[in-house]
Amino acid sequence: MGLIGRPVAGDPAFDYSPALRTARDRGDLWTSDRLDLFLADPEAMYPGQWMGSPPIRSAKQRADLLCVLGGQ
Ligand code: HEM
Repeated sequence: MGLIGRPVAGDPAFDYSPALRTARDRGDLWTSDRLDLFLADPEAMYPGQWMGSPPIRSAKQRADLLCVLGGQ
């Protein structure tokens, strides 16, 4: 899938929140570490973001997701 290395809020067809667009405009990229923190607590990382998903507390589950999202 290859999300790692892509800009945050990088799909031009998607209507992202101001929080994610601000992150993109300052140059944030999806690294493994950033994605892990985002999945662990999206709101803590980007306050005001719109992802209606609860924090994923399990490090094992986040690691599994990173394998899929990062294409690693
Ligand atoms: C395991 C489940 C999920 C994963 C791994 C995941 C992952 C992500 C990632 C990586 C982004 C950033 C996208 C980008 O920068 O292009 C994102 C954004 C978003 N996700 Fe999720 N997501 C999950 C579940 C959900 C669910 C359940 C919802 C809706 C109920 C949701 C709604 C959204 C929305 C609306 C955004 C844009 C947020 C914003 O603009 O602030 N996601 N998600």
